[in-house]
Amino acid sequence: TIPLIFDTDPGIDDAAAIAILLTNDEFEVRLITSVAGNVSVDKTTNNVLKLTHYFNRPEVKVARGAEKPLVKPFKDASNIHGKSGMPGYEFGELSTKTISKKAVDAIHETLNSYDDKTTLVAVGAFTNIANLIQKYPQDLKKIERLIVMGGSLTGGNLTSVAEFNVFTDPDAAKIVFESDLDITMIGLDVTEKALLTKQSMSELLQMNETGKMLMGLFGHYQDGSDAGGKPMHDVNTLYYLLHPEKYQLEDLWVDVVTDGPAIGATVADILHSTHSQTNVHVAKDIDVPAFNAWYLLQISGISDG
Ligand code: BDR
Ligand code: CA
Repeated sequence: TIPLIFDTDPGIDDAAAIAILLTNDEFEVRLITSVAGNVSVDKTTNNVLKLTHYFNRPEVKVARGAEKPLVKPFKDASNIHGKSGMPGYEFGELSTKTISKKAVDAIHETLNSYDDKTTLVAVGAFTNIANLIQKYPQDLKKIERLIVMGGSLTGGNLTSVAEFNVFTDPDAAKIVFESDLDITMIGLDVTEKALLTKQSMSELLQMNETGKMLMGLFGHYQDGSDAGGKPMHDVNTLYYLLHPEKYQLEDLWVDVVTDGPAIGATVADILHSTHSQTNVHVAKDIDVPAFNAWYLLQISGISDG
């Protein structure tokens, strides 16, 4: 099993990932932390609780994270993910609640309460992770590796050059990318290829209650609507952890732009011409049919409660 902490801003593709996270016992979920991103942190926290409730995992700790980026003013993506961040399904009255510790302290406590190291997965703005690096630098040695959904080698989805998670808090992303963590970047270069096809979506709708729940949300997901399917950005971090052989990666030096017209861009030394070192393993390609087949199989294995 993979022990991990999952940092997230649900968000419809976040929810699609959390559905796997909470039902696949290859993951030992030590903590889930929320962050402001797709919608406000009040809403992303509540959306995480909807999912721990829905999947009947009340023992999974959930901690509320940063409510705004380190420096920049906060701007959500409710135009993509709806006002609530997870529209299109009625989750009923919640049976789950957050722990009292804030995300940064909860991550610190969790990392240090196990002898072994924990993998961090971050699929929202990197504010909580940057806060951890600044407040508890000694904790880095307790982190096995950091897998992020964010950034891109070749163009953005929020601006012509910036991906949403990095754009939302570029100062945090810079702190994270310049840290000594072992970082794998699953960016738009693969996540915009990893579309859940229309065929897969219609199979999910027929599959079971969880398939219906997810397709309820996906019906409101305004990302990639004319591309033949919907991008499963955040789900890729989990698929990568379980099936790294389905991805092609390259080690590169990656900088984050924190100012000016290219703010939020991740600029990689693709030609290996300016840096002799590398700081990030960057995903460049993915086996898309294998990804779709895997996702359907995962959801089909979830029994209705
Ligand atoms: C990322 O931005 C968010 O809107 C998605 O949840 C994903 O984490 C894609 O750029
Ligand atoms: Ca996200």
